Order: sequence, then C-alpha cells, then structure tokens
Amino acid sequence: MTTFTYSTEAPASVRVDVLVLPVFEGPVAGPGVKDVKGIDLLGIYAQAKLKGKKGENLLVPNTGGGAFSAGSVLLLGVGKREKVSSDALRRAIGKAAPQLAKHAKVATTVPQAGRNAEDAVHATVEGLILGSYRFDRYKSGKVGEAPEKPALASVTVLGSPRWNTRAMKETISRAEIMSDAACWARDLVNTPARDCTPDYLAKQAQKMAKESGLECKVWNESELEKGGFGGIIGVGQGSVNPPRLIELSYRGAAASQAPIALTGKGISFDSGGLSIKPADGMEWMKADMGGAASILAAMKAIARLRPKVNVIAAIPSAENMPSGSAIRPGDVLHHRGGKTSEVLNTDAEGRLILADALAYLAEKKPRVILDTATLTGACMVALGDQIFGVLGNDRALIRDVLAAGEATGEHGWELPLWDDYRTLIDSNVADVQNTGKRYGGAITAGLFLREFVGSTPWAHLDIAGPAFADKAGDYWPKGATGVPVRALVHYVLAQAKKPVRSR
Ligand code: BES
Ligand code: ZN
Ligand code: MN
Repeated sequence: MTTFTYSTEAPASVRVDVLVLPVFEGPVAGPGVKDVKGIDLLGIYAQAKLKGKKGENLLVPNTGGGAFSAGSVLLLGVGKREKVSSDALRRAIGKAAPQLAKHAKVATTVPQAGRNAEDAVHATVEGLILGSYRFDRYKSGKVGEAPEKPALASVTVLGSPRWNTRAMKETISRAEIMSDAACWARDLVNTPARDCTPDYLAKQAQKMAKESGLECKVWNESELEKGGFGGIIGVGQGSVNPPRLIELSYRGAAASQAPIALTGKGISFDSGGLSIKPADGMEWMKADMGGAASILAAMKAIARLRPKVNVIAAIPSAENMPSGSAIRPGDVLHHRGGKTSEVLNTDAEGRLILADALAYLAEKKPRVILDTATLTGACMVALGDQIFGVLGNDRALIRDVLAAGEATGEHGWELPLWDDYRTLIDSNVADVQNTGKRYGGAITAGLFLREFVGSTPWAHLDIAGPAFADKAGDYWPKGATGVPVRALVHYVLAQAKKPVRSR
C-alpha cells in the first residue's frame, strides 16, 4: 500500500526517488519544471523530439548538474494546456504508474497542471493507484520473471500554496478510498472461478463488512428456497457450488430516510449452462460477477467515506453450469414476489438472478434501485468495450448516473427501454420469457428486469463491455477494470448532498 501525503514544498527540494513534472504540448513547461535550476529540463525534453503529448515521457536522472534533490525527474506529457481535463491527468500519470511503481518514493506537481485543484488532485491519486495495480497472486515466481513486489511506498502530492490544505488532504483520502475499492473489485473479478465461488464472494463480503462496520446477512440455499428466490436457485442448481444472496446495509442517515438500493450480477462463472457457450473466450466468464464485485466494492468505499445517506445492497450469486441437475430450456422459474419466467436460453441467466434481487429490494421501498451487470453481448455490440449501457424508468436517475460516469471517467450512455419491444419477451406459458429476438438484446434484457422493480425509480447499468479489458489501457492492465465502482460511489456521495426525503 502506498502512503499519500500532501505538501506545498518547492519541487526542487523534495527528497524522493522520482519527481514527476508535467509538460504541456508544445512542449511548454508545466508547473515545477522552471523551478529546477541549473539544468534545462525542457530543452532536454525537446531535444529528445518529444512534444508534450499525453504519454510522451522522459526520465532525466540526476547526474549532479541540476539543483534538485530527487534521484531523477520524470517529465510527463499531459497534452494541450487548455485541454487538460482530470481524465487526461488520470490517464497520463496512470500510464506512467507501472514504471513509477519500481521506485519507493515519488513526488509530483502534476495536479497543478489541471484547471480545478480538487479534481486534479483526485485524478492524480487515482491514476497512480489504479495504474500501478497488478494481479500476480497466482504467479509462483518459479517460472519466468519473478513477480515484482510493488515498491511505491510513498507519494507526495505537491500542491500550490494558494490551495486549501485541508480540502486537498480530504480529497486525497477520498481518492485513495475510491481507488482502493476499485482495486478490490478488480481482485475479485480476476480471481479464477474455481476459487471465486458464490460462497467465496459471500465470505469476502462478510469479512469486508466486519472490517468496515456494515451489517451483513448471507442467505444460503435453503433460506433462498424458503424465501421464494426461484431465479437464484434455478440458475445455481446445475453447480456443485451453491448459490448465495449477500445483503449489506449502511446507515448514514435517520432510519426514516428511504435508502439507495444496489444490486449486481454475481455469476461466478457463466458457461452458458445447457445452452452452452462456445469455447473461445469462455475463460472471461469468470468475470461475470463483475457487477456483484462493483457493488461490494462500492459498499466498502461508502462505509469508509460515511456519506449522510442510507444504502442497502442485495447481491445474488450463482454459478451457471451444465449438468444433470441444471435448468433446461423450457423450464419455468418462480421468482421472489410471485412472477414467473420461462427459460428459453439458459445463457440468459443474469436477468434470472437479478429478477429476484430487484423484487426483494423493491419490497424495502428504497428511493431508487441501481443494478450493475455484465448482462449482454448485445450491449458491447452497441456501445463497444469502453462504455456501459444505462437503461431505466426514471429520467432524473438516469441523468444522475450518467453525470457520475462523466465525473469519474467511467462513461455510460443511455439505451431506450422501448415499450414496443416488450411483446418480444411475452411467454407462451409464463409471465415473461428470458430472451427476445436476436436484435436489441440489451433492451429486451432491460425490459425483462423492469418487470421486477414495480414503480421504484430504477436504473440498470450493462457493464458487459467495460468491466474487463482484453488488453491494457491507460490506467488498467489486461483483465478486470473495476468499472463502475467509482461512478457508483460518486453517485451515492452526490445524493448525500441533496435535500432529505422521507419515506
Ligand atoms: N454474461 C453474458 C454476457 C456477456 C458476454 C458479458 C460477453 C461479457 C462478455 C450473459 O449471461 C449472456 O450470455 N448473454 C447472452 C444473452 C442471450 C442468450 C440472450 C448474450 O449476450 O449473448
Ligand atoms: Zn452471464
Ligand atoms: Mn450467459
């Protein structure tokens, strides 16, 4: 774990291994570059034919010429000065983070290159934590290169003397909490399904709840059966790893205040069931609990940040396997609350477990329900792998979710819950069937979920695209990304600042 501290010390005098200074496109010296006397840092940078574009970095070792205390300076290209958004800073420093993580002590003036001090400090801390994330728990070190232990022990965020020190320290701590939570979600998603079973997720949740002061209740198979959770039981019945429902609650306001309700798809492995998936790429289906992981991680961050709002979560988890005991195409499931669904395709399993959780949460009369799910390949076809789909029955809620995505660099885009398509999921024998036609698959999935929320304002985030990445990006390695943990936490914090509503 890296320790972050805030300081307004002069960059040239900080005693660290690497001092990271921003360079704008041009190249134009960013904050701190000219403070280093006795060496023409910008000249050296330009000499190397670098322009200051995002990701154009140069490490200048301290060979004694310049008047600075750091072991070396990393000149970090951050792009055009007028275009330096917090997302650009997160990406620029995130990309350099794996290299920086080879050193013990780092300091940086990068936030001073941003336009808003708080946002820039936040993004810099996030970029460093998210960008230096590694998942090497399963590497023995006996083959190939030994996994390098992250060395980044301390980061000094160098702010301007004009900034409010207390606000900056709070911002750093908030950014740490949000990014640490996202890294925990990544760990859960990257953990192979052989180990990351529904029960493992439940145990992780219980441990986290105990450490964070959350209430936690885990429903086992027989309790789920008695409670009428036919979707969770049905999807889980083909696996030797029994299903679970994980309930968490956070109290930050009066009990009379209606809570924000969260749920996430927790399919620990999605083989497709009897409607089995093709072999190619099936290994990624260990990530089909990315929605569940994002809710667990968001709850962890919320517990640490203590916003003045109540939040409850009910996270269904099951393993979707083909076997003699698995559900069959044509089977009918009885969901929590009494509605029935006909299973036409056992690979459309996420909506079957979410149906129960949504119905259960709606019983609690929350102010809103949000769900996150790696639900459909169709959503990836529509929006690609960087944007999540947002579907819901409430304009204000959808607007708030999209805004939280914008603010955190975890972007969503709305897809319509098109009423005319509702007939596509009319069933011959049950209330609803679990698949529509080939086209509009993300929408028919959303329409299916809508059946279970009643009149509660609700939004569904289809994160099939951005939950994991098949190659490294600016601040994530190949594998789980942690999306949309930070957007969820941002949403909850924003709600806590709004005027109180009672139930
Ligand atoms: N977990 C998958 C969706 C998915 C696919 C997520 C690729 C991430 C990457 C989901 O359970 C699924 O199989 N959906 C089917 C639905 C279809 C059978 C109606 C799909 O999208 O093909
Ligand atoms: Zn699935
Ligand atoms: Mn599936």
